[in-house]
Amino acid sequence: MTTAPVAPGALVADRDRLRALLDQFAGLSEPVSGPGVTRLAYTHLEREAHAVFAAHMEELGAAVRTDAAGNTLAELPGTDRSAPAIGTGSHLDSVPDGGRFDGIVGVVAAMETARLVTEHAAAHRHPLRFVVFAAEEGARFGQACTGSRIAAGLTGPADLPGKRDADGVSLAEAMTGVGLDPARVGDARWDHADWAAFVELHIEQGAVLESTGRRVGVVDAISGSTRLRIDLEGRASHSGGTPMHLRADAAAAAAEIVLLAESVGLRAAAWGTRATVGRIDVAPGSMTTIAGGASLWVDVRGLDLDRQQRAAAEIVESAAAACARRGVRCTATPLAETPPVPLPAVVRDTLVATCHDLGLEPTVLPSGASHDAQQVNEVTPAGMLFIPSRDGISHDPAEDTDLDDVALGTTVLAASLLRLDGELP
Ligand code: GLV
Ligand code: MN
Ligand code: MN
Repeated sequence: MTTAPVAPGALVADRDRLRALLDQFAGLSEPVSGPGVTRLAYTHLEREAHAVFAAHMEELGAAVRTDAAGNTLAELPGTDRSAPAIGTGSHLDSVPDGGRFDGIVGVVAAMETARLVTEHAAAHRHPLRFVVFAAEEGARFGQACTGSRIAAGLTGPADLPGKRDADGVSLAEAMTGVGLDPARVGDARWDHADWAAFVELHIEQGAVLESTGRRVGVVDAISGSTRLRIDLEGRASHSGGTPMHLRADAAAAAAEIVLLAESVGLRAAAWGTRATVGRIDVAPGSMTTIAGGASLWVDVRGLDLDRQQRAAAEIVESAAAACARRGVRCTATPLAETPPVPLPAVVRDTLVATCHDLGLEPTVLPSGASHDAQQVNEVTPAGMLFIPSRDGISHDPAEDTDLDDVALGTTVLAASLLRLDGELP
């Protein structure tokens, strides 16, 4: 096919096509999940969503493949067969009862970009590679960004049997269950010589853009996370028969730990550190039995690794002290650790310049959430574009982003990829 150069902004995303894709993915959800979307990492529903992406991209003439980690890659060749690829994409898994935009926006934007490039026969020298990463959410296995970590060589076959979900299913078992071969994930590792740059479009999952009235953000750093589970062993006993002073109440200890984590987070907040206990399981879970056991999942995020690790250590120390006072045994198990990542100026400057080309003033801001781009940056320079999240809400069914902003973000993404194509060797 003959291709032609396109002017900045000539590829204008179609909001109705984007809406149709968002609706299609939102329909792929566990039926009993509640009002939100539940499409967890390494489940058949996640694979079904990847298949929708693959079929769409094949229809556009892209060469599509799935790697051993379950990442799906679709490629449109450039005019220079020896040039490295410029990539974009995000993820299609969700948290339990989550929203319909987190990750999905970056995938539908990639699909729409591929459609615009092919429909306009837009010339590009580098191959354009559209990627859906598997298992980005850490909600199931504790570790975020499993597919992109495997691509970046940060997670290998030996790491997969040890990470388990709340039902005891390991990452390796879940992968096998959806037809992947965890022993072969080394084959999914990306070669940096094969890549020129990567850009991920995502919802902000915070309220900075909305509160400043800006419609596009350019990310300069992505927060890291230190995650752990704290298991408590108290003494289960009759809630009426056991006097208050003779208890070893695991639920009361858990409650105290939640507040300790909050106070550590509040103290460390000035350095961009945030501490959350997002899940507590209490056993035996009976109204008339003092809790004999409890587990807490703790997520500490930071833009400064030292502060992030110190805050996590402080939570563990203060939890141990509170438990000792209560006669409750306390064990902390590390689940995952990712350092914060500054994103390189080489891509960021192009994203800002593209916004200016399109008459937009972006806000440059850090990301509090984790993203696949953080892992990809190990292999090739990565950048991120944000679009606003209504009321800053995410990981919740109320997650919402104006369709005009999804379309605008996609237009900026497409123009950014073509601008990078002109700038990069
Ligand atoms: C990914 O969504 C995260 O938890 O940051
Ligand atoms: Mn996401
Ligand atoms: Mn998420």
